[in-house]
Amino acid sequence: AEPLRIALAGLGTVGIGVIRLLEANREVVERRAGRAIQIVAVNARDRAKDRGVDLTPYAWVDDMQAMAERADVDVVVELVGGADGPALSLARASLDAGKGLVTANKAMVAHHGMELAELAAIKGAPFAFEAAVAGGIPVVKGLREGTAANELTRIYGILNGTCNYILSEMERTGADFGTMLAAAQDKGYAEADPSFDIEGVDAAHKLAILAAIGFGTRIDFDAVRTTGITEVRATDIAQADALGYVVRLVGVATLAKRDDGTAQLLQRVQPCLVPFRHPLAAVTGPTNAVVAEGDFAGRLLFQGAGAGDRPTASAVVADLIDIARGQAGAPFSVPVAQLESCAAGDPGERVGR
Ligand code: NAP
Ligand code: HSE
Repeated sequence: AEPLRIALAGLGTVGIGVIRLLEANREVVERRAGRAIQIVAVNARDRAKDRGVDLTPYAWVDDMQAMAERADVDVVVELVGGADGPALSLARASLDAGKGLVTANKAMVAHHGMELAELAAIKGAPFAFEAAVAGGIPVVKGLREGTAANELTRIYGILNGTCNYILSEMERTGADFGTMLAAAQDKGYAEADPSFDIEGVDAAHKLAILAAIGFGTRIDFDAVRTTGITEVRATDIAQADALGYVVRLVGVATLAKRDDGTAQLLQRVQPCLVPFRHPLAAVTGPTNAVVAEGDFAGRLLFQGAGAGDRPTASAVVADLIDIARGQAGAPFSVPVAQLESCAAGDPGERVGR
């Protein structure tokens, strides 16, 4: 069979992870995909940078947008980042040209995912973003397909590896916030702008995407009420410990049904006191965990590495395998309804009851 030919935009933590995975697992990927997955073109800002991998087999494209126009490219993999700017231009151009689009960019999907999904549907092009939520955990597919027969009532969890690493390492070592943020950046967990991590914005991006998938509604990022972890001190963590709790940044999306049959979506991200006995309390390091509550499936827990080069590359390449097999699903539930979002001041949800 003809190889699936891809262009890779972004050669940072995740982009290089994808190259390494495709090299290391070439045979297993080809077997599962039914054909080879072949990188043909790459792009980043700095051509001279040593990235620790051999890039000579691939064409270097100076103008990222030109990737979308290349006749020898079937799928563009966008690993640049940023809700707008070059990432969004590339995504639009790729789908417009009928190319498939795979991205790990939750900021872009949270802000423009519906528009991109509509463009993909018009063009008949696959659009996949498993890596955008919870790194290596197949939670996008898990919610979209695995719980498709359920009415979900609540989706909640730990959605940012950087914050979870910082909080659980502060807990373990007693170190301060700044020291642990620097360590998370050093390990490649943090976003290019780490304020998105520590202010809860990254978790809010992911929550909005999961809520849309799980509840079959349009993404409503602006409705997520968000508080980050910048005010959490080592003493808060020690006091929580003395009372039988750990501190975790938790995102919660709840479907509140009214008596008249209408429903309202409540979404919030905030530091929570999680009792020692709750499964989320045992989630440490850059791990993510997502709980989904379905009327027939009951409580499901998806847990695994939420950040880092290898787990994220695993999710990117899983999407490429689906596309190679012609099995990439519609990105969102079909049809997509518009649920009313919560008004400011609505009561939130507590975890651990
Ligand atoms: P990164 O290490 O900062 O890499 C970004 C890459 O994009 C770099 O190669 C950079 O080029 C290139 N780039 C940035 N701006 C550019 C521009 N204007 N024109 C051309 N190239 C540009 O980021 P990352 O951690 O790999 O993240 C990539 C995406 O994956 C983001 O959307 C992020 O949110 C998402 N993600 C990351 C993780 C993670 O654990 N890191 C996990 C899940 C999802 P240079 O190298 O030349 O500077
Ligand atoms: N910065 C993100 C995190 C990367 O720490 O969870 C994975 O999305």
